[in-house]
Amino acid sequence: MMVAPSILSANFANFESDVKKVEEVADYLHLDIMDGHFVPNLTFGMGVGRALKKVTSLPLDSHLMVERPEDFVDDFCEFSDVVTVHYEATYHLHRLIQRIKEKDTKAFVALNPHTPVECLKEIIMDIDGVLIMSVNPGFGGQKFIPNALNKIRELDEYRKKRGLTFQIEVDGGINSETYVAAIKAGVDILVAGSYVFKSENPAEAVRSLKRI
Ligand code: DX5
Ligand code: ZN
Repeated sequence: MMVAPSILSANFANFESDVKKVEEVADYLHLDIMDGHFVPNLTFGMGVGRALKKVTSLPLDSHLMVERPEDFVDDFCEFSDVVTVHYEATYHLHRLIQRIKEKDTKAFVALNPHTPVECLKEIIMDIDGVLIMSVNPGFGGQKFIPNALNKIRELDEYRKKRGLTFQIEVDGGINSETYVAAIKAGVDILVAGSYVFKSENPAEAVRSLKRI
């Protein structure tokens, strides 16, 4: 099981020290990019991503919760291993995915809780992963929406049936009470913000999500 701690719940005055706490045990570092339009919150942009790239060996997973992601993907591809764009945020998803992949970056598509997985049918062969939002995006520390499990199961069955290899990532409300169900449903990457960075021992919190 892979775990991607989200620095949305880390110390904004010292990201570097919090990142060091999970560097040995995490698989990705998840960056939540919010623009105050696509979601009702503001976080940080590519300046922070570039700076983090210099101080960590962890691959960066940039989750763009922004309108007009096409204006920003080139910048994020420079330092990210995975760039995730929302299905709901762009008119030309196919073109956007091709642009990300041309930069040798993995392209993931995120689905909000109300968006059915069927929407991805015509693009699923082109993408490297699907991010299932298990909360409404915008804030850390929210409660896991159980219907996300049905969506994960549906995707996992679909990829098995067709022999596809895209990854499934889940984001929002992942903690000691919810992670097992997500893994059983078929998820490959768990994003966890508050569970990791609000805990006394972030490294141990990451390790605990890998134990099943
Ligand atoms: C929410 C973000 C998440 C957030 C998860 O919009 O996409 O990545 O950091 O936070 P927790 O794990 O606290 O629900
Ligand atoms: Zn996220």
